[in-house]
Amino acid sequence: MKTQVAIIGAGPAGLILGQLLHKAGIDAVILEAHTPDYVLGRIRAGVLEQVAVDLLDEAGVGARMHAEGLPHNGIELLIGGVRHRIDFPGLTCGKQVMVYGQTELTKDLMEARAATGLATLYEAKQVSVHDFDSQRPRVRYLKDGTRHEIECDFIAGCDGFHGVCRASVPDTAIRNFERVYPFGWLGLLSETPPVFEELIYAKHERGFALCSMRSHTRSRYYLQVPLTEKVEDWSDARFWDELRLRLDAPANAALVTGPSIEKSIAPLRSFVAEPMRFGRMFLAGDAAHIVPPTGAKGLNLAASDVRYLSRAFIEFYAGSSAGIDHYSDRCLRRIWKAERFSWWMTKLLHSFPDTNPFDQKALEAELDYVVHSVAGRTTLAENYVGLPFED
Ligand code: APR
Ligand code: PHB
Repeated sequence: MKTQVAIIGAGPAGLILGQLLHKAGIDAVILEAHTPDYVLGRIRAGVLEQVAVDLLDEAGVGARMHAEGLPHNGIELLIGGVRHRIDFPGLTCGKQVMVYGQTELTKDLMEARAATGLATLYEAKQVSVHDFDSQRPRVRYLKDGTRHEIECDFIAGCDGFHGVCRASVPDTAIRNFERVYPFGWLGLLSETPPVFEELIYAKHERGFALCSMRSHTRSRYYLQVPLTEKVEDWSDARFWDELRLRLDAPANAALVTGPSIEKSIAPLRSFVAEPMRFGRMFLAGDAAHIVPPTGAKGLNLAASDVRYLSRAFIEFYAGSSAGIDHYSDRCLRRIWKAERFSWWMTKLLHSFPDTNPFDQKALEAELDYVVHSVAGRTTLAENYVGLPFED
């Protein structure tokens, strides 16, 4: 088989890229290791920056997101029992974010791709990438017991943190930057109305908590827990009890509890691989970087990478290699700002087991500054709603 772009991975990065290339008349095949149901079964992020919303509109998949998504004008920080609102439009010249689950977005992207009749090869096993330092890269895979090969102009590695693309690059050609955190997030999804109309980020001495949502009837809550915790030890009742301890009286009065639909523990990690281009193979999304979820940037970074990548391929087929040459640097400048922000939000709002008393006091002063100064609130808001693209 021959194609222009072989996309590895049918998560948000691969699917958005596929849609943008289709709109531009560039031929692409998507290879995915798992089934569509497996891909849809992963409960992940839920906040889209305005620029990601615009990109999904450009990709032609924004209709249901606009109909069912919830535009949000701010978040609440609950610190030491006191609420502080971060007013996004007021602090960022009118910007807002959209609360819309990654699962729903993935479903929309899958349906849009199916409607165009474009190829997504699910359950492609033993995917391997070859000759990406030449003009004619190849991708091999096994499907239904038969070996196949795709010849292409480019490989787009949209295959997530554990994918094959980054792993196929020689160690000498790549540098990894990483920070691990001594805790995880225990998440619970329930068919209950959200406790509050906006997201509440709570800093508490028992640990961080987040009240988020997927719709007016479906809520997503998170608790900071030590990495040693096991999800089996967290009954729904224990989860709700612990959440109550970390919230304030108005939230507790409004909290509607119910059985969990999903409950899982995710470790927190910051990770960046540099560069993101290796000859004719490009990394995008979680394949190249991971952020802790505190800043809600994971999905947004995947979208911004493939925005740059799709434009780079379009430019290439129009006769210029400037876009592919600048891809890695352009992406990394935006990624490092989101990495910094995600790390900063994590540091400010979580309890770290081994913080020394001086650092603890300095952190409290920083939080006090952030919530009580317009400059402090503005820096949080402008990063949360998303930094502009460099074009
Ligand atoms: N061959 C084919 N497909 C693969 C392989 C492989 N060897 N390895 C992984 N994949 C697939 C995975 O099954 C997954 O469906 O690649 C896809 C990668 O999708 P994601 O992990 O969702 O990554 P990405 O598309 O970059 O989306 C990033 O996901 O983790 C969140 O916060 C993150 O919201 C962000 C988003
Ligand atoms: C979510 O709804 O899953 C969510 C929202 C905001 C975050 C992280 C996760 O910062």
